[in-house]
Amino acid sequence: MSKTSKSSKSSTTSFSTMNYGIDRAAKNDIPSTIVVFGASGDLAKKKTFPALFHLFGQNLLPKRTRIIGYARTEMSEEEFRKRVTSKFAPEADKGLVKKFLDLCEYVSGKYDVDADFQNLRKEIDRLEKDAGIDTDAERIHVYYMALPPSVFVSVATQIKKNVYDESCINRLVIEKPFGHDLESSRELSKDIGALFDEVEVFRIDHYLGKEMVKNILSLRFANVFYEAVWNRHFISNIQITFKEPFGTEGRGGYFDEFGIIRDVMQNHLLQVLSIVAMNQPKSLDPEDIRDCKTEVLRNIKSIKLEDTLLGQYVASADGSKPGYLDDETVPKGSTTPTFAQCVLEVNNDRWHGVPWVIKAGKALNEARMLIRIQFKDMPNSLFPNLARNELVIQVSPKESVYIKTIVKEPGLSTNLAMSELDLTYKTRYHDIKIPDAYATLILDVLNGDYSNFVRSDELDEAWRIFTPLLHQIENDHVKPKPYEYGSRGPEGMYEFVEERTGYKRT
Ligand code: NDP
Ligand code: BG6
Repeated sequence: MSKTSKSSKSSTTSFSTMNYGIDRAAKNDIPSTIVVFGASGDLAKKKTFPALFHLFGQNLLPKRTRIIGYARTEMSEEEFRKRVTSKFAPEADKGLVKKFLDLCEYVSGKYDVDADFQNLRKEIDRLEKDAGIDTDAERIHVYYMALPPSVFVSVATQIKKNVYDESCINRLVIEKPFGHDLESSRELSKDIGALFDEVEVFRIDHYLGKEMVKNILSLRFANVFYEAVWNRHFISNIQITFKEPFGTEGRGGYFDEFGIIRDVMQNHLLQVLSIVAMNQPKSLDPEDIRDCKTEVLRNIKSIKLEDTLLGQYVASADGSKPGYLDDETVPKGSTTPTFAQCVLEVNNDRWHGVPWVIKAGKALNEARMLIRIQFKDMPNSLFPNLARNELVIQVSPKESVYIKTIVKEPGLSTNLAMSELDLTYKTRYHDIKIPDAYATLILDVLNGDYSNFVRSDELDEAWRIFTPLLHQIENDHVKPKPYEYGSRGPEGMYEFVEERTGYKRT
């Protein structure tokens, strides 16, 4: 498609400001048809349809929106409707649910058959006609691939061949995993790139839709005091941590092909890191933001095995929770890591010499995702043995930002105590319901806002950082250290961080 086509023109002119407000879809109000491929699947049921319903309920979908579910499974309208609503909140307004379902249709078809996609195109045309949408009017077609990666290219090819409408703004939404390593990711990008312009491709990393991840940019670049200390002169080390309290639980077959590094680190954690580390972009234009994020990744060397600690969970101490290898869907004797901790450096003026730790693990003691920024020791302090300040941004479960701050113990004492300047969202913003990341991201797609989607060069850099390590782990069958289900992780993990980063417990 040429750069001057309607799709790219609209995309490049409509994203001049970042979408922090959620009123833009209603403002744009361009008739939109959203096709959810893989509509019979888990993601569509758990995330995509509930997110669309959330937007509908908030009046944020364009008025003339149509939603088409597409998959191979034969389903009656009734069965489809049940599936669409199966994860809606039980208290959801019945009338609203009915109105939402009136926007939804189901089309069954294969992922590689011309006639099935031609049929889909007819259905889109019919729905638009019924809704009184003029084919000369500006329209958005979103193709959301809630599908396994094995069919991404086949479906994208079919869309381009049999469904794609040049007169519309076309947007292709792809779910991770985008490839398995640098080579396969480049191949996928090349195949998709041959069909769709980069401005038409929205690679979802749902962490970029999380409230506190979106908030990092505002915190950093809207507050003079944060940005002033956001560098190697004041910061000692940074840790980005993802912990889940459950194991693979029957999804071991899927997980074993990927492991924790591909599942969480190469995408979610590295994306978060790039926002924490980036320099101030020239503007809030998504391309400026993504340029700055990509620049960070370019300054990170490929991670070495000696800077990595790998773990795999075994049964819990009391035997009530199974080990990874006890999952029948996991291949016998698998050495796939379910825990990893890596130390890396961002080699630029801002961060030279500051160690970054990214850590992710399944079957740990708690659910938590946070960014911990530890400041340097107070120089020339009046007080002996001061603990260090820390700024913690907690992404989940409870959105919060807190600064570990030293104060005088209240009362007659003159001792010092560690306290917190605490902005816990539930307490401060109790009236606001924070939307699910998918709702935010789908709204961004409708608004043509790319800020929170992964660009192909970013993706390439992310794979470059991890691919040598992944290949070495696999080729050498590197054995992960065992840790018990429900524990904090493998033995030695704290020492591993302290030795390499100088982290001091506060
Ligand atoms: P599913 O395994 O549920 O697959 C979705 C649908 O695709 C299925 O209902 C099935 O539909 C079709 N399908 C499944 N396997 C194949 C196959 N081998 N060949 C062709 N079609 C197939 O996947 P999810 O919904 O869990 O995930 C979809 C995408 O989203 C994946 O890329 C996944 O990695 C990603 N993702 C999923 C998350 C989740 O929570 N589930 C979270 C984040 C990302 P039918 O047979 O009816 O055509
Ligand atoms: C997905 C991973 O991308 O993110 C899962 O594939 C993981 O393994 C999930 O559980 C975590 O997402 P969230 O939003 O629950 O933190």
